[in-house]
Amino acid sequence: MTLILGIETSCDETAAAVLKDGRFLLSNVVASQIDLHRKYGGVFPEMASRQHVLAIMPVIQQALADAQVGWDDLDAVAVTRGPGLAGSLLVGVNTAKGAAWANQLPLLGINHLEGHIYSNWIEAEGNHPDKVFPILVLIVSGGHTELILMTGHGEYARLGGTIDDAAGEAFDKVARVLGLGYPGGPAIQNAAQNGDDRAFRFPKARTKNPYDFSFSGLKTAVLRTVQRIEGQDLSSSRKLTPGEHLPEQVVADLAASFQRALVDALVEKTVRAAESLEVTEICVCGGVSANAALREAMRARAPIPVSIPPIYLCTDNAAMIAAAGHFRFLRGERAGLDMDVIPNLPLTSH
Ligand code: KG4
Ligand code: ZN
Repeated sequence: MTLILGIETSCDETAAAVLKDGRFLLSNVVASQIDLHRKYGGVFPEMASRQHVLAIMPVIQQALADAQVGWDDLDAVAVTRGPGLAGSLLVGVNTAKGAAWANQLPLLGINHLEGHIYSNWIEAEGNHPDKVFPILVLIVSGGHTELILMTGHGEYARLGGTIDDAAGEAFDKVARVLGLGYPGGPAIQNAAQNGDDRAFRFPKARTKNPYDFSFSGLKTAVLRTVQRIEGQDLSSSRKLTPGEHLPEQVVADLAASFQRALVDALVEKTVRAAESLEVTEICVCGGVSANAALREAMRARAPIPVSIPPIYLCTDNAAMIAAAGHFRFLRGERAGLDMDVIPNLPLTSH
């Protein structure tokens, strides 16, 4: 049996979780900073690190209490070392080091993207924890969009990824253009519920590598459409000042049409890869995999089984870091107490 404490502070969530045997979630505590950053329209890095400093110990103590375990029961501490905001990562990594040293526990440094992938290994609705490699993985988060062929634990072959904006970044930027606020993903999904997803036709990006993605053209097309509509309104009797919100129905239609275009691109390319490669299943992960339209379309159109974690494991959490840590712990990996954070850490095999 293994009991791993996971710690995650790469961006704007302070999180800790205790995971048994790499799949049974005993506790999962997430302190979100969304309210703090909302007034800035995005994550304010210095505020994020200082908030992590305030929250990290209470969050860890809560995770241990919820799991009803003490430090002596743990086998290892797994912490995100990158990619992410340097100041935010430092809080989690230094706390993990102190805890590992004080309690004589092994320390593991985890890649945040690998954590997202391993959210699919946790025993939870929508997941298939018993997997047979190779697996096709789609990571869609605020900073990343990656299509990966996973051939074993820790073995990744990159098929493609975004050549400009990440999927979550596109959601966040378009939400700002539509005056929907932060974070953009849930706001767009919400607005899109009342919209017609065929009201606007947005162009499909062509990429040289068929497994690459490009979302900046789509984002610009939404912006141009908004400017055109606002321009029309300015010339009509109703006077609009720049930046004034569009009529609610137009915002809903734009949100729905944008969401559909983005989801179509993600699903089309993932399905194409699943059809041409010998893979047993598709694993979708990362914050954008919380999107209802994406979840539905992927499940409806995929030719093989699809694993998508429940929403609370899609957005940033520490359970996924503990899950990735479990497999590295079993492989004998250990980090030294001189481990540094790596803000632009790529996902590599080892
Ligand atoms: O994985 P995550 O929590 O943090 C990063 O590692 O980046 O992903 C955050 C991203 C944000 O861009 C957010 O807008 C997006 O995930 N997101 C969504 C939804 N929920 C979160 N995007 C679309 N629909 C959602 N329901
Ligand atoms: Zn993430």
